[in-house]
Amino acid sequence: MYAPTTRTRTDADQRWLAVCRADEVPLDGGACVRVAERRIAIFRYASREQWFATDNRCPHRGSEVLAQGRLADVSGEPSVVCPMHQSAFALTDGRCVSGGEGGVRTYPVAVGDGIVRIAVDLEVEP
Ligand code: FES
Repeated sequence: MYAPTTRTRTDADQRWLAVCRADEVPLDGGACVRVAERRIAIFRYASREQWFATDNRCPHRGSEVLAQGRLADVSGEPSVVCPMHQSAFALTDGRCVSGGEGGVRTYPVAVGDGIVRIAVDLEVEP
């Protein structure tokens, strides 16, 4: 299970990959993309004008469902609520904000020219 750390990634640790078109991600919803062996959930939090990315796998039971989750504001924190059993994870750092343990990995997101890019660790082969 992934636990958020305080280590700050640098550009030297990561590479940016184009993963989908912006119009493939629904407003205030998510879409799942595949990067190497990982499935990553891309979220378009339109009402906040922000984009986020997390692993698609919910740490509670390991279901690949977070892209289908509901976006929510949990105590001011932009979050995704898992559609299976309602665990909620902060989109900013992946920590569980619904009282559970652990969290999900998050990825930096950049959107430009209609393309969504995420930064992944260098060891991930595209
Ligand atoms: S699988 Fe996500 S909350 Fe149970």
